[in-house]
Amino acid sequence: MDNRAIGVFDSGLGGLTAVKQLMRELPHEDIIYFGDTGRVPYGTRSVDTIIKYVEGDIRFLKTFDIKIIVVACGTASAVALPVIGSSIGLPAVGVLDAASKAAVKVTKNKKIGIIGTPSTIASKAYGTKIRSLMADVGIYSAACPLFVPLVENGHTSSEVVRLVAQEYLGDLKDSGIDTLILGCTHYPLLKGVISGIMGNDVALIDVGEQTAKRVGEFLCENGLMSERTGKGSCRYFVSDTTENFEKLGSLFLQQRIEGLVNKVDIEKY
Ligand code: DGL
Repeated sequence: MDNRAIGVFDSGLGGLTAVKQLMRELPHEDIIYFGDTGRVPYGTRSVDTIIKYVEGDIRFLKTFDIKIIVVACGTASAVALPVIGSSIGLPAVGVLDAASKAAVKVTKNKKIGIIGTPSTIASKAYGTKIRSLMADVGIYSAACPLFVPLVENGHTSSEVVRLVAQEYLGDLKDSGIDTLILGCTHYPLLKGVISGIMGNDVALIDVGEQTAKRVGEFLCENGLMSERTGKGSCRYFVSDTTENFEKLGSLFLQQRIEGLVNKVDIEKY
């Protein structure tokens, strides 16, 4: 039993897709969330910059009494975790492994699509993981660079998102995939638009949901669940103004987070 908090981070709002599921799966756990809203997006930056940002994010989270780090960012999972994972000094669960395992379980025709940020897609990390789990699998991928800025600005179902999504997803739709990994934690916020384009025959793998399940399994297997019987708390930190995050975060989490969000100078970590 371990009552320490779960530390979660992302480049911005996207990791809340994992937080929402963590609250559902593990209601007694305390959560500390950091969204690097001052430096978002990560997915169009160099590998060195992403690693530098991720190291700072982790150093900040480690200033709290936490028992595990959840890398709720597809880009950080694909690009930084393979390089720095063993030096974190705490267990770390990333979105990539959890989503890849889920996709392999779901696909029937062995044609799996992945959408993610340009850095995630360029890393080929999802394809490598999936191929290590399943032989003769077809991997089809597409980078969707405008999705993160659109979500960060509150566009989750507008006409502009639909047009951008049609442009990005056209080739994937024609490829005959039956499973599509939403390989960036911002993308579950666009699920409605994406499923409208891909159709009901394509299963969408929500990285936030899969990651929360994996965290639950890990805590259980390692005797690290909280023994609290009441509801856990969640504190939020961002590296830019709190207002936008509070507004969009409250809408998305369907609970008011005004007053629970603090600004941090992440460059100090
Ligand atoms: N949510 C992040 C991810 O999962 C977004 C990355 C970005 O900031 O570009 O990849």
